[in-house]
Amino acid sequence: MFDKIAAHPEGISAARLAEQHSWSPSYTARLLDAQASFGLLKKTLGPDNIGIYHITETGKYMVSDFQGSFDGIFTIFSKRVMKSMSDIPDLIKSGEEGYKAQWVSSQLQTDGSADKQGPKDQQPLAEPKMPEGCQEKCAAGCMKSGMKERRMYQIMEALMYPYRDDIVRAFDLSGFKTVVDIGGGTGFLSYNLSRTYPDMKVTLMELPKAIKAAKEQFQPPDFDKLNVSYLEGNCLKDPIPDASLYVFCKVVHYFEEKKIEELMRKLHEKLPSGGAIMLIEDLLSPMRVGQPPANCFDLLKMTEKAGQNRTIEEYGSILERCGFAKFKCIRSNEESVYDMMMAIKD
Ligand SMILES: C[S@@+](CC[C@H](N)C(=O)[O-])C[C@H]1O[C@@H](n2cnc3c(N)ncnc32)[C@H](O)[C@@H]1O
Repeated sequence: MFDKIAAHPEGISAARLAEQHSWSPSYTARLLDAQASFGLLKKTLGPDNIGIYHITETGKYMVSDFQGSFDGIFTIFSKRVMKSMSDIPDLIKSGEEGYKAQWVSSQLQTDGSADKQGPKDQQPLAEPKMPEGCQEKCAAGCMKSGMKERRMYQIMEALMYPYRDDIVRAFDLSGFKTVVDIGGGTGFLSYNLSRTYPDMKVTLMELPKAIKAAKEQFQPPDFDKLNVSYLEGNCLKDPIPDASLYVFCKVVHYFEEKKIEELMRKLHEKLPSGGAIMLIEDLLSPMRVGQPPANCFDLLKMTEKAGQNRTIEEYGSILERCGFAKFKCIRSNEESVYDMMMAIKD
């Protein structure tokens, strides 16, 4: 709907929009009025007192090709997340073993045609093929090729978009000259780090599919001015380049505690004195209650079998066991799901 209105920067009436797409004129008008009531559209009076609708600054976030668009997030919430949540009763009754992780499996097995064919609700969900208990593969699996993959990446960028400055400026990172952004998706954070700290050399280390998408589909127009390079690799298996700072944004929640500990221990050995790890996650509050978005995302991860959220104390204790003497954390505000933790090697 918003894409179609955006195609008319001069504004469009409900009747004309309905006519163009063979929609019901009266229902279209009622929907547009409701959207205008939320400030997503502005309604002005045109010739003959006909209502003309324009997209507002806020409404732009509903247009699918606007950078930071929420379109993918809304789609995934309405089509998948709500479905996952309705699976929770089965999950708690049957436990991990009996549960079919439909959300992930349906992501994995869709070749993208569903995005083009319309009513996804009516398409049967495929049987899961996800290896049981293999959390890191969930992430790799979501990177399956096709439209779905691009949509997943767009969602990651859109989630971070409003908070990009808060994330890169939470700690003063100007002293770190070599940074590896591990599991950095399309490189959105790497590019923002490089823009904010021009002396910083950033390596985006990701699984091969993600690197391909980053290079081919998500490179920003100012890429040539940035100091960002790409490296294909699995951080749990492949060598990780030397650096003074390793950043993991929304990555380690996929991994079991044992794997995180092995990885952090390895990085602690590699780091020079004063080097650091920055973990960005949506943290649970003490006693694991709140903030509400963190608990909701934790439930989502439970239904996806894709890891779990943890508290500051849990991450602090893992990092301490791995030898990091200093640990600090900046909690986000209530709406954001990006909490920043920094562990420094003495
Ligand atoms: C939730 S996404 C976060 C992406 C990005 N950091 C962000 O915050 O938008 C998790 C990313 O971790 C990557 N990933 C998962 N396991 C990995 C591994 N073992 N090595 C490297 N990257 C991994 C996935 O490919 C995926 O892009």
